Amino acid sequence: MFAKVSSLGLFGLNAFPVDVEIDISRGQPYFEIDGLTDTVIKESRDRIRAAMRSCGINFPVASVMVNLAPADMKKSGSVHDLAIFMAILRAMRMIEDVPEDAAFIGELSLNGDVRRVNGVLPMVMLARENGMKSVFVPAANAREASVISGIDVYAVHSAEQLILHFRGEEPMTPSEHYIPPEAAYNETLDFADVRGQQSAKKALEIAAAGGHNALLIGAPGSGKSMLAKRMPSILPPLTFEEALETTKIHSISGLLDPDTPIITKRPFRSPHHTISSAGLAGGGSIPQPGEISLAHNGLLFLDELAEFDRRTLEIMRQPLEDRRVTIARASGTITYPCTIMLIGAMNPCPCGYYGHPKRKCICSQKKVSAYLSKISGPLLDRFDLHIDVAPVEYDDLSAKTSEESSADIRKRVMAAREIQAERFRGTDITCNALITPDKLHEMCPMDDGAEAMMKSVFDSLGLSARAYDRILKVAQTIADLGGSEVITRRHVAAAAQYRSLDRKYWQDGV
Ligand SMILES: Nc1ncnc2c1ncn2[C@@H]1O[C@H](COP(=O)(O)OP(=O)(O)OP(=O)(O)O)[C@@H](O)[C@H]1O
Ligand SMILES: [Mg+2]
Repeated sequence: MFAKVSSLGLFGLNAFPVDVEIDISRGQPYFEIDGLTDTVIKESRDRIRAAMRSCGINFPVASVMVNLAPADMKKSGSVHDLAIFMAILRAMRMIEDVPEDAAFIGELSLNGDVRRVNGVLPMVMLARENGMKSVFVPAANAREASVISGIDVYAVHSAEQLILHFRGEEPMTPSEHYIPPEAAYNETLDFADVRGQQSAKKALEIAAAGGHNALLIGAPGSGKSMLAKRMPSILPPLTFEEALETTKIHSISGLLDPDTPIITKRPFRSPHHTISSAGLAGGGSIPQPGEISLAHNGLLFLDELAEFDRRTLEIMRQPLEDRRVTIARASGTITYPCTIMLIGAMNPCPCGYYGHPKRKCICSQKKVSAYLSKISGPLLDRFDLHIDVAPVEYDDLSAKTSEESSADIRKRVMAAREIQAERFRGTDITCNALITPDKLHEMCPMDDGAEAMMKSVFDSLGLSARAYDRILKVAQTIADLGGSEVITRRHVAAAAQYRSLDRKYWQDGV
């Protein structure tokens, strides 16, 4: 007897439909699963047998042939257990019809419970796109699945529950559609805690307003880590589309909190400097997204930047430019998006006091050079804003006056983002940092004074073409923050001032 049940598979971030076809015929008893499967699927034979036993059903004494189509897509994981189980029951006529527009995903445990799987969100999105009317998912993944509207999501706890549902004995009801709450700003870290440091705060406001990368550099204890950790409190909220994209990456990595099925806050990832290149950029035998992709649509903070392995940092160069990471494997090429803001923090030398106005640096010039050369020129070029964090002044620390709160800074960031939303209407660009080179001059108009300033900056700083583009985009953000429709000389000068760190520290011979 033949039966067919729908399931879904995952390759990287992309889901694909899988048909579970089964044929049970008389003959030598065996149970085979075909269709480019890996050992995990072979193991599902044991789980399915045991789960059937737990429901009081004897596994058929017959030849049971399961085929997972399409054969040319590599299927991995235990996600098809539930669909294979249903197909066997259907072929054995243990249950009445299984609707063609229902899909099943989930792993079975030996006692018949249904276990959570990774990547439910992209799979349910595809099921809806393909016109499926219902999807049966592990109960632990149900909230995540019910973020998607227009498809009935059934939360399955056990194999037994499915049988009772399809026999009409105890019909299940679909889960309620999950509507994420308005993104609430409940950040505990606020810029008001940081005394003084007005120019660093202003630079970070520009970074947040235009989505620019920034490098904080300064002496120990000047507040670099403190400043960077407060960035989430001034970033604009995620749009629903951005939230879905980011959640998909966390879903396939199995990092979603069951109580928060959709990520509504921009991610803030701050990996330790001992991280491997695969951990940072993605990889592994079954390629997993790295920190750079987990931070997609949010912020990646690399504290103590100079302590990271140089090769690990260099791997980020291309992804930072392309806004995606491509991992090649024999089974195919997987691409993960990584549209991020990169914030780095570091000391200028091993002792930390190089260039300090009051304390003497004890490092030799050679040591300073070796330390700074851990950050290559091309990587430095990708930081739009080099922020010199000066030591905190005693007067600032002891002042009784209160500092500006994150909420107030965010208001200006949001106003600048609204101007950008208008500028980029009809395109998929979301902020100034993402303007593509072909649209740069059309979207960032300069007046004559700005053009002249740009030329003189380019010549005197010996800039690269990339640095030119980046200065122009930062100048555009500064103009947006000031409500100016055109980029003027002042905006270019302010933007160029943030590139000056490479002259101060990365001198000739470094
Ligand atoms: N501007 C500031 N206002 C108030 N407190 C500050 C300020 N800067 C530093 N501090 C205090 O100093 C501590 C250390 O600051 P932070 O860790 O941010 O320094 P850092 O620049 O990252 O130093 P390091 O180079 O050693 O990593 C903070 O936890 C805070 O208590
Ligand atoms: Mg620090």
